Amino acid sequence: MKIIIQNINSKELQGIIIPVFEDKKDSCNIIQGFKDNNTFDGKEEEIFYYTREEDGVFNYRILIGLGKESELTGYKYTNAIAKAVKMAKQLKLTKYGIRLGEMSSICIGGRTKGITEAVGLATYNFDKYKSDRKEYAAEVYILDAPEDKKEKMSLKVQEMNNLVEGITIARDLVNEPANVIYPESLANKVVALGLESGFEVEVFNEDKIQELGMKAFWAVGMGSARLPRFIIMRHMGNLKSKEVLGLVGKGLTYDTGGYSLKPSDSMKDMKCDMGGAASVIGVMSALAKNKVKANVIGVIAAAENAISGHSYKPGDIIGSMAGKTIEVLNTDAEGRLTLVDAITYVIEKEKVNKVIDIATLTGAALVALGTITTAVVTNNNEFYNELQVAAEKTGELFWSLPNFKEYKKQIKGDYTDLKNIGGKNAGTITAGMFIEEFVEGKPWLHLDIAGTAWADVPFSEFIQKGGTGVPVRTLYKMINGGCGCSK
Ligand code: BES
Ligand code: ZN
Ligand code: ZN
Repeated sequence: MKIIIQNINSKELQGIIIPVFEDKKDSCNIIQGFKDNNTFDGKEEEIFYYTREEDGVFNYRILIGLGKESELTGYKYTNAIAKAVKMAKQLKLTKYGIRLGEMSSICIGGRTKGITEAVGLATYNFDKYKSDRKEYAAEVYILDAPEDKKEKMSLKVQEMNNLVEGITIARDLVNEPANVIYPESLANKVVALGLESGFEVEVFNEDKIQELGMKAFWAVGMGSARLPRFIIMRHMGNLKSKEVLGLVGKGLTYDTGGYSLKPSDSMKDMKCDMGGAASVIGVMSALAKNKVKANVIGVIAAAENAISGHSYKPGDIIGSMAGKTIEVLNTDAEGRLTLVDAITYVIEKEKVNKVIDIATLTGAALVALGTITTAVVTNNNEFYNELQVAAEKTGELFWSLPNFKEYKKQIKGDYTDLKNIGGKNAGTITAGMFIEEFVEGKPWLHLDIAGTAWADVPFSEFIQKGGTGVPVRTLYKMINGGCGCSK
């Protein structure tokens, strides 16, 4: 998909997308033209298309409702354009325009961003394994851009295209099956991406993992014929600053549950259990490509939770890189074991001063918040507010669960420092608090994306069935800040 900021004669286009406000539709001359025989009102999510003839040339007009002007947000705008872009794809338009229009609620930069995200994300399709797949690409013209804004707009398009690419990387990695993406192949992909996008990559093999004392991570990974890999990605975009953010992604390339085996129905989607890792890789790629002025280290403890004669077993007592001992009461609560060693590594060896971990960690997050909202556990309200400020702009939803110290009792071990499950109640909180034991008091956010990394039923116009890419957009926004526009 190619975005071009240029006015072009409508006869050269196969169609034009025209956003319409509900409370301004009467001044829209297109609607005036057919007022009597249609019901299009410009309401949010409303869409209407028709063909028109101009000097013997037929083309489409796709009207997309934006609702009331004062209520428009960046997210609603992107969502509306995404709906129209999908319609354009359905109509097989390969050269069409989108009217930028005039609006007070979102600045031109915000609209350019929304259009670029919508065009890139709404046309995503994981169809590479279909023999009869049809490639689709279109030239999309942003129409009526003011001359003096074009240069800035084109920089925004470039930046957002890089973000879209990052999100696409995350979606693809989640959608790829476990016979394609396993720890070693994931590490190889990250090495290739690092070279392409411009971030530094280091990979530790099974010997180095053990040498570093990552006993909890090794316990999870050692049972599979696909041996674990530890992946480090570095983007040091602001050497003047001492601030370094650590992003830690859960990277279970497959989760059978181990000896605490999952029932088939819950196991079938477990290729998505590296959704956290995928989002970290997507963010790192976008940060590096856009040369964002921030220091970020991404780490992934990549493993496959499988059954064999080498696998860890319920009842095993294991250590960890931090020296804490853990009783494994359920081999299906493996994510936290891999994450805590990754967190110790990124704090101790990479010297980060803040940590965000992103993990498809608990089915309980799905029960509590469904597939719409990512569950958060944090030890720092200020850090949480930074996340919420970014999320308000991207439209991705997050909500924090309490981390009252009373819950900690549930994960204290009988014979060990900790046990890896906290009973059947408050599973998302106790999983988060298990991780908190390893963050050494650093500001920390735990994002449980078990419900939001994967969509069976897409919940916005630019998300498809399968990997969603959540929360790449919000993390990018949090790290890079905004365009200055309030929305
Ligand atoms: N990978 C799963 C969590 C999951 C569930 C991710 C649904 C995506 C969709 C995780 O490793 C797991 O199995 N967690 C257990 C923890 C329990 C044994 C304490 C769970 O949620 O059942
Ligand atoms: Zn599990
Ligand atoms: Zn898992």
